Amino acid sequence: SNGVDRELRAPICCILGHVDAGKTKLLDCIRRSNVQGGEAGGITQQIGATYLPVENIRERTSLKAVATIKVPGLLVIDTPGHQSFSNMRLRGSSLCDIAVVVVDITRGLEKQTIESLDLLKHRNVGFIVALNKVDRLHGWKTCPNAPIAKALKNQSEDVQSEFKWRVTEVVTQLKENGFNAALYYENKKMKEVVNIVPTSAVSAEGIPDLLLLLVRWVPEIMMDRLTYVNNVECTVLEVNEDKDFGTTIDVVLINGALSKGDRIVVCTKQGPVTTNIRYLLTPYPMKELKAKGVYKHHEELKAAQGVKIAVRGLRHAIAGTALIVVKPGDDLERAEAAAVQEISNANSLINEDERGESDDGTAIQEISTIKTCKEGVYVQASSLGTLEAIIEHLKTLSLDIPVGGCNLGPVHKQDVMKATAMLKRKEEYAAILAFGVKVMPEAFDLAAESGVKIFMAHTVYKLVDSFTDHIKKLKE
Ligand code: GTP
Ligand code: MG
Ligand code: NA
Repeated sequence: SNGVDRELRAPICCILGHVDAGKTKLLDCIRRSNVQGGEAGGITQQIGATYLPVENIRERTSLKAVATIKVPGLLVIDTPGHQSFSNMRLRGSSLCDIAVVVVDITRGLEKQTIESLDLLKHRNVGFIVALNKVDRLHGWKTCPNAPIAKALKNQSEDVQSEFKWRVTEVVTQLKENGFNAALYYENKKMKEVVNIVPTSAVSAEGIPDLLLLLVRWVPEIMMDRLTYVNNVECTVLEVNEDKDFGTTIDVVLINGALSKGDRIVVCTKQGPVTTNIRYLLTPYPMKELKAKGVYKHHEELKAAQGVKIAVRGLRHAIAGTALIVVKPGDDLERAEAAAVQEISNANSLINEDERGESDDGTAIQEISTIKTCKEGVYVQASSLGTLEAIIEHLKTLSLDIPVGGCNLGPVHKQDVMKATAMLKRKEEYAAILAFGVKVMPEAFDLAAESGVKIFMAHTVYKLVDSFTDHIKKLKE
């Protein structure tokens, strides 16, 4: 097919890689934003989505030939590189069309780079390697926003030779992980051999090259996949408690359209829940979906987009599952059956927990497939993804701290009540680990009265550290 009169949707591109490779900084460079500068400890702790309209991309590529871009934009998903956030890397890589694996040229492949490569291999997702931080090569002369070939020509022989051996090293490491790769401008088999694009997120060399590959080459090789169709394909990315909208679900609309008022079937731990879209929200173009900012209200939205949906009568959806739209005339029973299947798939992905089921079975059962046990700490977070990351981190510690209960949103008196149960069972676990949430004054009062300790911090690592320090002190 020549694809002349096809309508293409925006490709969905997931950014993966090891901690501090420069994933967020690359996006900041493209968006001209400073998300990275505002992150606690300089680490990403939440999956995000940003829509980049084609006009903005065109401006960054210094591309005159407008007609050659056939997609309306690009939807990029930023993921954290820290180990405990593998859930978010899995979700991002599961729903993207293409990935960009960011590698720090001065460090080569690292632990989470390899984890990301394995995810992509497993899911058969194509990717581009952004070989980032070229400006860190000793003696690099910056050429802001220049195409990489032009920037390289400007460098001394020493820089060029360091560049060459570092590229060779990364190519070798990729080969050891089962991938043939080459600098994209030397790559004669672009479909079979992984493209490497050298970049700098600070001085923007190589950014035009990366963007052009994403908006011109990617649509060319996956024209069918990117053809807009009316059937809704939509995946839950994250679940949040929002102070204005209550429970909201961040979704990635992969194909089709969503309308305000649409009847939807959402997958929850308790089974399919049928409800309506109350608000259909997006951030402004070039802004992060996860940022607590101003949202645009929409009547209808077409794929691909990162969308925040507010619904009534729903506690918590399971992240990673499909959101199913029931249009007038559609069979609701069939939609619900599809949701049941989704839920069972999600459950089978979770390893059986040898610790057994919680006897408290309230809040947590509604949240996700997270399992809790009788004796353990209480964890509370602003989003499902961070909640999972904290629980994951607790599991990997040598102390092996179990989780007795968890919840999303502000810490209320009821949460403290639940944590007090541990005072009699296992006093050291009579604690709440609160991340990114407010603690209500009555909750503070009750905690102080009863002896439940509340821990708070700006990063999940500091949060868990402060709790384990406390446990260690108790044991001394
Ligand atoms: P996580 O989200 O925590 O996994 O990290 P990340 O991959 O998003 O990296 P981030 O954008 O936080 O960048 C890490 C550090 O590297 C920051 O201090 C950035 O300023 C710096 N950095 C990122 N890209 C570049 C680059 O191209 N050149 C230079 N010199 N520094 C960079
Ligand atoms: Mg980041
Ligand atoms: Na970082």
